Amino acid sequence: MIDYVNLGISEEEYEEEISPRLKELFLSGQFVYAKQVEEFEANFAKYCGSKYAIALNSGTDALIFALKSLGIGQGDEVITVSNSFIATANAIEYVGATPIFVDINDNLLMDSLKLRAVITKKTKAIIPVHLMGLVCEMDEINSIAKEYNIDIIEDAAQSVGSVYKGKKTGTFGKIGCFSLHPTKNLSGITDGGIVTTDDKDISIYLKQVRNHGLIDRDRQNIIGRVSRLNSLNAVVLSYRLTILDSLLGKRIKTANLYSQLLKSIKEVKLIDVPSDVYHTYHTYIIKVTNRDKLQQYLLEHGIEAKIHYPILIHQQKPYKDKYYNLKNTEKLSLNILTLPISNITTKEVEYICNTINNFYKISI
Ligand SMILES: Cc1ncc(COP(=O)(O)O)c(C=O)c1O
Repeated sequence: MIDYVNLGISEEEYEEEISPRLKELFLSGQFVYAKQVEEFEANFAKYCGSKYAIALNSGTDALIFALKSLGIGQGDEVITVSNSFIATANAIEYVGATPIFVDINDNLLMDSLKLRAVITKKTKAIIPVHLMGLVCEMDEINSIAKEYNIDIIEDAAQSVGSVYKGKKTGTFGKIGCFSLHPTKNLSGITDGGIVTTDDKDISIYLKQVRNHGLIDRDRQNIIGRVSRLNSLNAVVLSYRLTILDSLLGKRIKTANLYSQLLKSIKEVKLIDVPSDVYHTYHTYIIKVTNRDKLQQYLLEHGIEAKIHYPILIHQQKPYKDKYYNLKNTEKLSLNILTLPISNITTKEVEYICNTINNFYKISI
């Protein structure tokens, strides 16, 4: 079976790289807020090209506290897309604001041409989601946000290391929010998240809010919570950050092979990667005819493919009672299929592409 995802590492890597680092932490006893957390933050900020990076316990908390740091809450509207992981919209609801969904383009990303139509006096922020590791049309989105004086919070959960016009994601808006969940390209060993910003006040707020609102051991400044990145995770993430570019390079190579082999199948449409975008392929999504049958056929042939996302956010129970005009989002959600991309061999990619080809030959 070719699993959709395989997060295990080799015994050699564990013994040589992970285990000695964990041993050092265990012997130091610094299980909460070890020096490795700060080191990871500093290195992550440098990697992205932002002034500050503040590590939290999840990408979801990154979004929630990013919104809170801008004072967004009851009565405010925040624009985002419906074809994201539910956390994007949940974070908006969680701070008491209302998510407003805008339609997507054929690349599955926020359609900047439809943005103006959903902006109101209540709009306080836009959350573009760099789905798959592809980057949204940030020039267009930024210039609209500027015109209306609206902040941008990037949902960069899936796009660590992705580049648009020479800049990494997480540096286009006021705040960038990343997930460090084990399935992400910068993959932790438990939940984790990190925020990037150039704004000093936001960085101070985030450092306090993740730690009860304390400014030092005893003095509290604001109401906070416990949302720190745990030290074990920081140790592993620090190491993985040093190999991230090579891991991304492997994914890109696999994705290029897929694209090469699939481009001649007329029932398969590839995502169009603009020349000024460095796409890091958190997921490799194709748009296909007869999607559900193809997915079943692949499974029968030992290939696990997934759908991102089978239920759009606005179709989930807490959201579905309102009216939404998301024609392209709904149309595309019926055709998309995500192929396995992590840790798979050239032979496996060839097998998957041949199986897709065979499916369309027999289903003509
Ligand atoms: C687009 C997007 N936003 C937010 C999140 C939430 O991140 P986390 O799972 O770390 O809370 C995810 C994680 O799957 C995601 O894919």
